[in-house]
Amino acid sequence: MPELDVEVAGVELESPFVLASGVWGESGASLARALRAGAAAVVTKSVCLEPRPGYPNPTVVELPIGLVNAMGLPNPGVEAYGEEIAEALKPGKPVIGSIFGRSPSEFCAVAKKMEGFGVHALELNLSCPHVRGAGAELGRSPLLTEKITRAVKGAVEVPVFVKLTPNTASIASLAKAAERGGADGVTAINTIRAMVINLELSRPVLSNEFGGLSGPAIKPVGIRAVYEIFEAVRIPIFGVGGVSSGEDAAEYIMAGARAVQVGTAVYKEREQTFRQLRRHLSRLMTRLGYESIEEMVGRAHGGR
Ligand SMILES: Cc1cc2nc3c(=O)[nH]c(=O)nc-3n(C[C@H](O)[C@H](O)[C@H](O)COP(=O)(O)O)c2cc1C
Repeated sequence: MPELDVEVAGVELESPFVLASGVWGESGASLARALRAGAAAVVTKSVCLEPRPGYPNPTVVELPIGLVNAMGLPNPGVEAYGEEIAEALKPGKPVIGSIFGRSPSEFCAVAKKMEGFGVHALELNLSCPHVRGAGAELGRSPLLTEKITRAVKGAVEVPVFVKLTPNTASIASLAKAAERGGADGVTAINTIRAMVINLELSRPVLSNEFGGLSGPAIKPVGIRAVYEIFEAVRIPIFGVGGVSSGEDAAEYIMAGARAVQVGTAVYKEREQTFRQLRRHLSRLMTRLGYESIEEMVGRAHGGR
């Protein structure tokens, strides 16, 4: 049997499959359920300093190729999130706190609170495609990415991952900026800015008009992003975008990811997802002759 365990910037994972931020992980109880259902770790819903209601419905459109969502980053504010983290920590596996803010100092305040709750690492959401003044509006700038990363790194001890936006000309330059700021790793990719039109109403379907595309449609974009980032930086990469099989995960790992996060597939399959993914990947590795994840990381790059 091949070894599925892998380590990402000091975070020990029993397999490369991690629950992505925002999907199924709204509460401590659902994060714990994902861990008990076989996720090696979970990333929390993104939280910020003050409570946010998010956008009015409709906030999600299901398409045959994936989802388009504009939830508007609803969350109860970091103060209220301590209880959720306590619940999520119960299964005894790594919990990664996803945070966002509007300035370096706001990021730092949320980061310190989350660290105090006992998370094993932080993921800076610099990539939400549909919230004004936060997310990708900050993360599209290499300068701000570096500045925010450096500020958070100076404020906490736990590993810090930076989640990058594909809605940019060069995701590799954002990864380099995160590395310069001291990031322990990067996560690629968040959703791709998108829109769906209701023909009867001749209006965009989502209340926010624009949303983010996720699921099978974005996998080739995610693979390309991870491949480019792997060539540009030395820090480890979480691959994310359209993973729903062992083959998808292996593609990301060969492109350069050490582990993958799973969102939209979990939205559809819930409880079944993680055990199935582990079985598939294990079978695939046996067929291809790999004994560990480590052996597969970056194999698509030939010489490296
Ligand atoms: C309904 C929904 C909510 C999401 N909320 C967040 C969020 O709060 N923070 C974040 O960083 N990413 C969020 N994402 C993006 C996912 O974490 C992930 O990057 C993206 O969906 C691509 O992965 P997938 O194709 O496996 O879903 C959300 C995605 C969906 C579908």
